[in-house]
Formats: sequence, C-alpha cells, structure tokens
Amino acid sequence: MTAIKPNEKIGFVGGGNIAEALIRGLIAAGVAQARQIFAADVSAERVEALRSRYKVHTSTDNVRTVQQCHVVVLAVKPQIAEGVCREIAKGVTNHQLVVSVAAGITTGQIHEWLGGRGRIMRVMTNTPAVVLAGASAVAPGPGVTERDIRLVETMFGAVGEVVALDEQDLDAVTGLSGSGPAFVCLAVEALADGGVKAGLTREISLRLAVQTVLGTALLMKEGKEHPGVLKDKVASPGGTTIAGLHELEKGRFRGLLISAVEAATRRSRELGKR
Ligand SMILES: NC(=O)c1ccc[n+]([C@@H]2O[C@H](COP(=O)([O-])OP(=O)(O)OC[C@H]3O[C@@H](n4cnc5c(N)ncnc54)[C@H](OP(=O)(O)O)[C@@H]3O)[C@@H](O)[C@H]2O)c1
Repeated sequence: MTAIKPNEKIGFVGGGNIAEALIRGLIAAGVAQARQIFAADVSAERVEALRSRYKVHTSTDNVRTVQQCHVVVLAVKPQIAEGVCREIAKGVTNHQLVVSVAAGITTGQIHEWLGGRGRIMRVMTNTPAVVLAGASAVAPGPGVTERDIRLVETMFGAVGEVVALDEQDLDAVTGLSGSGPAFVCLAVEALADGGVKAGLTREISLRLAVQTVLGTALLMKEGKEHPGVLKDKVASPGGTTIAGLHELEKGRFRGLLISAVEAATRRSRELGKR
C-alpha cells in the first residue's frame, strides 16, 4: 500500500456521490486524514454538507482547490468534464496528479483540455463504491509514475476492490463491473418475482433474494472457491437446485450474460469514438 504522505493533499473537483464515497473511504481506511482533503463543488449547500459530515476543507472555487492540492480527483459528470478541465487548467502543473473518474472520458482528452499539464490517470469505478464495496480499474495516462499508480490503487482500495489495467481495457471493465450492478439488480428482481410466484410476499422475497446474492458473493470472495465448485455443492443428485439449473440452461442464462457484457463493452467503445 502506497500511503499519502502527511504533507500531501487530495482535492476533489465535484463533490457528488463518488467524491463523497471516496472521502468517507479514505478517512475510514486511514489512507488520508480529513485535514489533507479538499472538496470543491458548484453548490454551497453540498460543500457545507461535506464539511460538516467529514470535517474536510471545502470551497466553491475549483481553481483555488486545485492549486492547494497534490492529487486532484475530477469527479464531475462526463458531459461537463471538458468545461471543468479547461477552467482548472490554469491551476494545474506537472507536479500534480489528476485522477479522472468520469466514465468514457480518455486520459488523452483530459491531457488536451488541461493544456498538456499534469500527470493523468483514469479510473472506472462502479455504484457499489458508495457503500465501500466498489470494483474499480485504474489506468495510467500521460506522464504518470509507478508511485502514482500505486497511490491511486491505494485510494480506490479504500472503496472496494481495485485492479490496474491499460486504458484500452476500460471498455471491457465498463461492460463487466460498470454495467454489472444493473445486470445483478435484474437477476435479484427476477428471483424475488420467482418467490412471489411460489407464494411468498414481495417483501420477504426481496429480502431473501438480496441476502442470497450478498451471501453467495461473500462465499466466493472470502472462501476463494470457484463459482462452479460452489454451484456443484448446492446441486445434489435428483434435487431441487439441479431442476432449476436445467431451466436456466434451457433459457441460455450463461450465454445471455456473456452477450450482455459483450454488448455493453461494444457500446462503451462506440461512445468513446464520438
Ligand atoms: N456514481 C457512480 O456509481 C459512478 C460509477 C462510475 C463512474 N462514475 C463517474 O463519476 C463521476 C461523478 O459521478 P457522481 O455519481 O458522483 O455524480 P454527481 O453525484 O452528480 O456528482 C457530481 C458533482 O459535481 C457537481 N458539479 C457540477 N458542475 C460542477 C462544476 N462546474 N464544478 C464543480 N462541481 C460541479 C455537481 O453539482 P450539481 O449536482 O449541482 O450539478 C455534483 O455535486 C461521473 O463522471 C461518473 O461518470 C460514477
């Protein structure tokens, strides 16, 4: 784990969901102290909420925030990333690391919008980062050092699992772990529908379905067992589970999920070409 040095400061430009998750995770994991964190947002109400919740420094001035920090996290919506980069460019120097979490925005675009200044990294994270159970991929862009990569891994490790990849792989990450939460939600909703069809109440069905997915995920993550091995353990000869698995295979369950990830990856590539 590459730690933030005591004199280093992290600044967030955009103080929304992802910025708040990171601020919470960084402090909870002891990666950074509140006094090392600065957050800027257009909304005075929003920065006040972050200041009172986490005791971090806050401002509605993006450029001033950037000038005070060693690491800048660009956490605004992709649609406004160009305008915000062009605005903060005058505050960025090559001594700073700029980490973008904006989906679909390349390090090359950010490098250009910042006028060639700063060392750039890009991260694709996902919604469960908000509950510190995210899946993030970090990719290096222009000028980054080995320490920059390790530092960003440490930062995003505070909000879940993290892998380091080349930027060209981030479309596949978008298709798998970026879009994945929606695929899992669909599966959970359908499992709950199955419970309702079998006579359980909606509320009980949903609670059982959510806990089944959570518990199975923990078994795979903490028990480190292959999903196929775990599946075989539940499916006893001539039993209930193998009857259900047969129905899933008839409906091409696995093929559909593979196609879903493939389609989302393809769409991410198409959007990136615009
Ligand atoms: N949420 C996720 O699970 C997730 C997953 C993967 C990637 N991402 C990426 O993470 C980025 C942030 O997402 P988010 O969910 O945190 O979005 P968000 O909650 O909308 O946060 C963005 C924040 O930036 C503020 N803002 C707008 N214009 C600004 C400006 N000119 N200067 C400074 N701040 C400004 C917004 O204020 P207003 O609301 O008042 O406009 C908002 O508080 C996005 O690029 C997204 O693609 C998010």
